[in-house]
Amino acid sequence: MVSNEQPELSKVAKDIVNLLAAIVRTSQIHDPSNIAVVNSVDKFVAMINPLIAREGSITLELVGEYFYINETRIKFSMEYLLSFDTLMREFKKHKLGSITFKGAITAEDMRIFLKAFIASSFSDTPFETLSEGIEDVESLSVGVLRKIKDEAGDQDIRKVVRRTYFNAVSFTKGVMSKVKAGEKINVKRAKRVVESMVDLILDQEELLVGMTAIKDYDEYTYHHSVNVSVLAIALGQRLGLPKKSLLELGLVALFHDIGKTEVPIDVLNKPTAFTDEEWRIMKQHPLWGVRSILKMKGFDVVSVRAAIVAFEHHIRHDPTGYPKTMQLSELDLYSRIVSIADQYDSMTSARVYSRNPLPPDRALSIMMERAGAQLDPLLLKFFINMVGVFPVGTLVMLNTKELGLVYSSNAMLPDRPRVMVIMDSEGRRVPGYIVDLAEKKDGKYTRTIMKTMDPNKYRINLAEYML
Ligand SMILES: [Fe+2]
Ligand SMILES: [Fe+2]
Repeated sequence: MVSNEQPELSKVAKDIVNLLAAIVRTSQIHDPSNIAVVNSVDKFVAMINPLIAREGSITLELVGEYFYINETRIKFSMEYLLSFDTLMREFKKHKLGSITFKGAITAEDMRIFLKAFIASSFSDTPFETLSEGIEDVESLSVGVLRKIKDEAGDQDIRKVVRRTYFNAVSFTKGVMSKVKAGEKINVKRAKRVVESMVDLILDQEELLVGMTAIKDYDEYTYHHSVNVSVLAIALGQRLGLPKKSLLELGLVALFHDIGKTEVPIDVLNKPTAFTDEEWRIMKQHPLWGVRSILKMKGFDVVSVRAAIVAFEHHIRHDPTGYPKTMQLSELDLYSRIVSIADQYDSMTSARVYSRNPLPPDRALSIMMERAGAQLDPLLLKFFINMVGVFPVGTLVMLNTKELGLVYSSNAMLPDRPRVMVIMDSEGRRVPGYIVDLAEKKDGKYTRTIMKTMDPNKYRINLAEYML
């Protein structure tokens, strides 16, 4: 019987996610008897029981990057963004795919669950530990996280990812030379290119984001445009933006520096520091970008958004930004996303006029210092979460004195990714073999990251290893 007093399941779904995230968060820092934990558990029980009574049971499930409640996808809500992110990460960390509530839940049931949940965080087989821990609780059951990636097809997937990435780079190169030649370009093809990247990110986020570690000195601007687009889409996905918005975001990001086509090549590629006059020219590129975009064929709402982002992507709320504007309103969400992706990629790239690219972790810590005044702190938090402590492509020194590149991340143990060793402990170059830092021998980790290194110092070409 559906009573009028009870809200629809889809309406309260986000509150369930929010409360569950709050319970998990507080129980990670406090004792189960702590008032904050007790209160949030009581609140959760009071909310979920009437729903179970009405629906028979409630299942919260994680599929890919989305939560479902009784098989209906839960809409992301901006106000609970962090809760969604927290819970998703916790589910993944525990290899947990779903929780089902049935009968009547008591606060005691939830406490047993939390105890098992926390204990399983330290287990090598978190899902099994959790599921054993709640065996005796009749009102609760859990399901394992379904694997989406197919290991056997790993090599093929890598090929598709590479093809998509380089196709986007060559497309961007084509667009920029057309713009330079004064030819009209069509937004439609750009949309198709971006769509292939969005589809891939929804499915293979890490691999495509990993491609952005490849920076090309000669073709900097094209790689940079594609990298910013990939990073922006990936961040947008983390924020739970719908696919339509991801397509727009990818497109506007791809065109953010289109105004650079009007900067004279000898200024753009100048290996030494800019003079005041050269800076003055460089700083025109946002405005020139607007002009180029407005001239494109197939002009529509997205083009307007692209023009806004081209104009705003260097505006900061402090004196470092340009163009100088009267600060009348907040920057566009897409501009704030693109500006984070842009700064990260610029800092970690060997573009000609900044000959010292930073290792990813160093770039992220500088960006953290800039949070607030220059960058949106909440978006930055999501971004750092996304690229990870050691982004794919980071050059690291291991405790074994081996030197390697971060190859793929470990969601459970962020500081223990898989690494491709490229220099042995004697400093000799080796063809590259992959080691797993989560691997243990006699209860001790075999390898541990000591520090990150500058790839340029070692004259290491990332592309050589990653392609
Ligand atoms: Fe720019
Ligand atoms: Fe840029």
